[in-house]
Amino acid sequence: MKTIKDFDVEGKRILVRCDFNVPLDEDGNICDDFRIVKTLPTIEYLVEQKAKIILMSHLGEPEGRIIPALNLNKIKEKLEELLNMDIVKADDCIGPKVQQQVENLEPGEILLLENLRFHKEETENDSDFAEKLAQLGDFYINDAFADCHRTHASIALIPQFLPGGAGLLLEEEISVLSKIMQQPDRPMVAIIGGSKASTKAPLVDPFCAFADLVIVNGLIKQELIAQKIPLQYPEKVLGPKDNLERLDVNEQDVLRFTSPILKAKTIFWNGPFGKFEDEQYKNGTLQIAKAIIESKAFSVVGGGETIEFLDKEGMLDQFSHVSTGGGAMLDFISGQTLPGLEALN
Ligand code: 3PG
Repeated sequence: MKTIKDFDVEGKRILVRCDFNVPLDEDGNICDDFRIVKTLPTIEYLVEQKAKIILMSHLGEPEGRIIPALNLNKIKEKLEELLNMDIVKADDCIGPKVQQQVENLEPGEILLLENLRFHKEETENDSDFAEKLAQLGDFYINDAFADCHRTHASIALIPQFLPGGAGLLLEEEISVLSKIMQQPDRPMVAIIGGSKASTKAPLVDPFCAFADLVIVNGLIKQELIAQKIPLQYPEKVLGPKDNLERLDVNEQDVLRFTSPILKAKTIFWNGPFGKFEDEQYKNGTLQIAKAIIESKAFSVVGGGETIEFLDKEGMLDQFSHVSTGGGAMLDFISGQTLPGLEALN
């Protein structure tokens, strides 16, 4: 796969797919700018190299409608604050006006396109839409690891029309996640919690193929049973003993989980255990986080809720790698082909 450094970007129009899909509060303010911050190295590199930079992203799920609360105005403000420079924002992501704004860009300047999902053609993976986006650039850079599991036009189709490669964030995510799958220091423990149990349960067996132990929450254990998912390595799966729908992990299970975690050399974690957002039920998730940090293992963590929890507890910087991906990270580690990566290959 080509990467951003393989292209001579100076003076060229570089179309960059970012993931600025950040959580917003009721007033539309950004609650957590982690994903935006992680994209800065690629953007700063392109500014230094005097490229003409066109950034594009989705935000939320407007389902093809123009929803003012989901426009990228707040993202523009945040980018200007973080980059300490002015950027231009378009009112759409395709069309003659946007094309003119691209033409007006000077080397080192940035244009942010409007929410891609205001057009239903984005999630419908529409080829004409991808071609219209591609006309805005000379090269395409994908830096949206968190979206690479989506077969959407800006992810899976643009590389058919433009030479493309990975941005610095995408490159880093692939390199760290590949390493823990292929050459983990052992014992390697994977911890999978959170909601969306029906999509996570089928991933448990593929995780067992490279992990020495897979710890799952009650919801996923229940789902493994309900979906009658065959396990090739049942001895590697550890879940709560009983009370599978508990709001928190009981003391006995905390010990059963933390004791192998403390001995691990590599740990992967996605998804909290229990109703962590409620102070009185956060103990299990907190004990797991503390044990991971205490283990001194190489630790990789990802998923919106897990990051939100660790950030609130002030623990995020004690993990070796914090992935921007949720679903994309799980799919990648469980060995699935991600459409976004396949397209770049
Ligand atoms: C994410 O939040 O995981 C990515 O931005 C993908 O968003 P989606 O689940 O709405 O496709």
